[in-house]
Amino acid sequence: MKWAVVWLCFFSCSVAIQAKQVHNHVNNICSTWGRQHFKTFDGDVYQFPGLCEYNLAKDCHGSDPKFSVNVKREENDGNIAISYISITINENGFYLNKTHVTENSILVSLPHYSRGVKVEESAFYISFKASRVGITVMWNREDAVMVEVSNNYRNKTCGLCGDFNGVPVYDEFIVNGFKISPIEFGNRHKIHLPNDDCKDPHEDKDESWKSGNVSSSCKNFQTICERAFLSKSWSSCNEQIDPEAYIHACAIDMCACNNSTNDSCVCSTMSEFSRQCSHAGGQPPNWRSQLCGCLDPTGTSRENVRATLVRTST
Ligand SMILES: *[C@@H]1O[C@H](CO)[C@@H](O)[C@H](O)[C@H]1NC(C)=O
Ligand SMILES: *[C@@H]1O[C@H](CO)[C@@H](O)[C@H](O)[C@H]1NC(C)=O
Ligand SMILES: *[C@@H]1O[C@H](CO)[C@@H](O)[C@H](O)[C@H]1NC(C)=O
Ligand SMILES: *[C@@H]1O[C@H](CO)[C@@H](O)[C@H](O)[C@H]1NC(C)=O
Ligand SMILES: *[C@@H]1O[C@H](CO)[C@@H](O)[C@H](O)[C@H]1NC(C)=O
Repeated sequence: MKWAVVWLCFFSCSVAIQAKQVHNHVNNICSTWGRQHFKTFDGDVYQFPGLCEYNLAKDCHGSDPKFSVNVKREENDGNIAISYISITINENGFYLNKTHVTENSILVSLPHYSRGVKVEESAFYISFKASRVGITVMWNREDAVMVEVSNNYRNKTCGLCGDFNGVPVYDEFIVNGFKISPIEFGNRHKIHLPNDDCKDPHEDKDESWKSGNVSSSCKNFQTICERAFLSKSWSSCNEQIDPEAYIHACAIDMCACNNSTNDSCVCSTMSEFSRQCSHAGGQPPNWRSQLCGCLDPTGTSRENVRATLVRTST
C-alpha cells in the first residue's frame, strides 16, 4: 500500500515537473493583444491602455543592446490595433506596418533576408526572425504581437515585457520597494519621439477596468468567461497554462464592451489563449464557435497564426 502511494507520487510529481518545464518554455514568450493586454516573459498578465510608442522588449545588458522592439497601438473607429512595430537588431533599424517593411528607412520586399534577419509574411501574419541574436517577433497584423527570446536573455531584458528573471511581479512592478501600477509601469517605457505630444494614460476610477479591475457591475462577466475558458474543450490548454489571468482579461474586455459579444472586444483574449496553448503543446478547440460569435471575415486567419506558432516552436 505504501509503495503504491510512493509510485503514485512519483508519477504525479514527474508530471508536475514536466508541466512546469512546459510552463517555463511559454515564459520565453512575451505578448500583447487586444486593446491593452500584456503578458511578460515572467508570466504577469496586466493591462496598459497607452497609445504612444513603447518599448516592448530590449536587451538591457551592457551598453550595446543586441535588440529592441517597440510597438504602437492606434485607435480607428473604436477598434484598437497595433499600427507599427519598430525593431533594432545590432543597430539596424527595421520598421513594420500593416503593408510595408523598411530596413534602415529603405523599403524592402518580402521575404527579406539580410544580415541574419529573416522577415516573412503570409496572408495573416508577419514574422521577423533574427536567429543569431535569438529573437523572433510575430504580428498578426492586427492586435497581437508575440516576442520570443532565447534563454541567454534571462535577467537581461527590459521594457513592457519585463526583466525575464523568472519571478513574476519582481522587479517590474516594484520600484524602490514600492508597488507601482501597470499604468505607471507602462508610462515608464514610453518612447519620446520628436514632435510627438502623445498623452500618457492615467488612472481613472470610473474606468478602472482599464487598469485591470473588474468592478462589481462586471462580476457577471467573470462568470461568463470562467464558464467559457474552463469548459471541457479547453482542458488540454488548462493543463498547460493557468487560465486565470486570461479569464480576468476576458472579463475586462467584456466589461469594457458592455457585454457586446463583439469580435474585437471578446475574441482577442480567447485567440491569445489559443495561441499560447498551441505553443505550449496543448490542443485548443475551435474556440470561435464558443463565447463569441467571432465573425472572422477571413474564416481562417487565427488558425493560420496558430499553425505557424506551432511550427516555429518545434
Ligand atoms: C464591435 O465594436 C466596434 C468598436 O466598438 C464597433 O465599431 C462595431 O460596430 C461592433 N460590431 C458589432 C457587430 O457590434
Ligand atoms: C507604412 O509604411 C510605409 C513605409 O514607411 C509608409 O509609406 C506608409 O504610409 C505606412 N502606412 C501606414 C498606414 O502608416
Ligand atoms: C535571475 O535573477 C533571479 C532573481 O534575482 C535569480 O534567482 C536567478 O538565478 C537569475 N537567473 C540567471 C540565469 O541569472
Ligand atoms: C450598455 O448597454 C446598455 C443596454 O444595451 C445601455 O443602456 C448602456 O447605456 C450601455 N452603457 C455604455 C457605457 O455603453
Ligand atoms: C450579457 O449577455 C449575456 C448573453 O448574451 C447575458 O446572459 C448576460 O446576462 C448579460 N450580462 C449583463 C451584465 O448584461
